[in-house]
Amino acid sequence: MSADEHKKMAAMRAVEMVEPGMRIGLGTGSTAAHFVALLGARVNAGLSVICVPTSEETRKFGESRGIKMSTLEDEPELDITFDGADEIDGDLNMIKGGGGALLREKIVAMASDRVVIMVDESKLVDTLGAFKLPVEVVQFGLAVTIDMIEALAADCGCEGEIALRKTAGGEPFVTDNGNFILDCDFGQIEDAEELEDALRYVPGVVESGLFVDICDVAIVSGDDGVRLIESEREDRGDDEA
Ligand code: A5P
Repeated sequence: MSADEHKKMAAMRAVEMVEPGMRIGLGTGSTAAHFVALLGARVNAGLSVICVPTSEETRKFGESRGIKMSTLEDEPELDITFDGADEIDGDLNMIKGGGGALLREKIVAMASDRVVIMVDESKLVDTLGAFKLPVEVVQFGLAVTIDMIEALAADCGCEGEIALRKTAGGEPFVTDNGNFILDCDFGQIEDAEELEDALRYVPGVVESGLFVDICDVAIVSGDDGVRLIESEREDRGDDEA
């Protein structure tokens, strides 16, 4: 089975978790697109849900499938979010942002009671970092931001090329929020939480693609079938209590 077929298998398992009336966050990327297509089929068969997309791409695709789309302004509390990931480790920490939607993905995830991540088995790693870490940065002061990221990441044992993401046409890639993405080739990230904290210290950094302690359930599809890995952390609601 191809990686894309495994993504679809994971999405098929995920869509079974959807219950009538749920307020749902919709991720971005090819795995999330499988989920949106499957959810659209259920909606067309009569399921009533309301969804908040993590990108304009997902908004358009969802609407084309007949799914009612809303915003966090109208639906600030979501029951569940379904998204993909670029890498996920055994503690369910992740690298996201390959599609450039990491900021909205993190905002929507943090507004959700539960976060379900759908991946094909190739995304499951022992240590994060083979995938270049995307970091969303403001356009102003780019060179200074890159220098600061370099220095602070080095303090965390992370060194490597930091490249401005470009479109196929060679222009800087601009996110839905009007920012740039830096792809950081740090190699193995031994302490994702420490690096995430360090990156937050850089004024020009809007958000990093490190998602620490956010995923509740990973649905992993591989040649041996589909399995669920559950987080041991408490619900986000309990964290805030
Ligand atoms: C989008 O910005 C990303 O976080 C995606 O969730 C991630 O890149 C996974 O993409 P695929 O599902 O296309 O592999």
